[in-house]
Amino acid sequence: MATGQGIALVDLDDDGVDRAFRTEVLVGLKQVQKAVPARWFYDDAGSRLFEEITQLPEYYLTRAETEILRGRGEDFAHLIGPGRAVVEFGSGSSVKTPLLLHAIEPAAYVPLDISGDFLRASARDLAAKFPGLPVYPVEADFMRQVALPEEVAGLQKLGFFPGSTIGNMVPASAVDLLRAMRQTLGEGSQLLIGMDLIKDRKVLEAAYDDAAGVTAQFNLNLLARINRELDGDIPLEDFRHLALWNDDLARIEMHLQARRDLNFRVSGQSFSIQAGETIHTENSHKFSRRMGNTMLLASGWTPVEHWLDSEERFALVLARATEPRSAP
Ligand code: TRP
Repeated sequence: MATGQGIALVDLDDDGVDRAFRTEVLVGLKQVQKAVPARWFYDDAGSRLFEEITQLPEYYLTRAETEILRGRGEDFAHLIGPGRAVVEFGSGSSVKTPLLLHAIEPAAYVPLDISGDFLRASARDLAAKFPGLPVYPVEADFMRQVALPEEVAGLQKLGFFPGSTIGNMVPASAVDLLRAMRQTLGEGSQLLIGMDLIKDRKVLEAAYDDAAGVTAQFNLNLLARINRELDGDIPLEDFRHLALWNDDLARIEMHLQARRDLNFRVSGQSFSIQAGETIHTENSHKFSRRMGNTMLLASGWTPVEHWLDSEERFALVLARATEPRSAP
């Protein structure tokens, strides 16, 4: 296994506080609609809770996508073919990534992640499962164009972005990311991307508000993290987890709603929130086939194939980099 470049992507102040976390929380809590960016969910406790979410009976996404990856290996082999460098955006999942790699016989595997520790651990696991496959982990923020390792310069690329993570971005950011991916992957590349589909709102809301309360715990953990890392005194028991379908924007929104009027402090600053007011913590956009196609086309990708699970809840979409051309 090749080693990634050890660039420090986390900037800590003298007290060991992540500057970006503090800035984004303080700015977000001053907005008219209070909000905290979802990327801060994933501390150790948050990552463990998210693993638990993927096993919940209501959370169909992981099972549906895994079913497609398990069942469509021959299609992948046919439409993607052998010899590509698979570039995964985010540290690989120990279940999904091997299913893809087994199906297509790639020439290299390049996981990209902003968290070096996660990245190295999952790259090691993967390298152990595929002894002949060169693995080149890269620690990078994939929202921008990433310089891929020299070793894969001569190979055609397949980008892999499972999990419907694209849905966690607002459309403008999703298009920015898809365009950055196209730049990173180059001419002749392909992209295999997961997109969760629009469906009955009860099913959607249950997937983000499970009976066992794990997603509620996951959401509330953000406040616990703020209290711990940013010297906050937010009373967790005075907030409740909300998951609501926003039909105009085709997305599930997760919020934390104050049960009563509250004052609290974070990093030495004072905040107040009224009963019923919310802190917006996450969006999960859902797609129709055409919406997904439009988003891909707007970003320089031409859809090639859509695969759905047997209950038609989730789509894996294969696209190819649109060739530059001057007329329709
Ligand atoms: N992208 C997945 C989804 O939207 C995973 C995910 C991201 C998620 N943040 C989440 C799932 C918060 C539950 C709660 O479903």
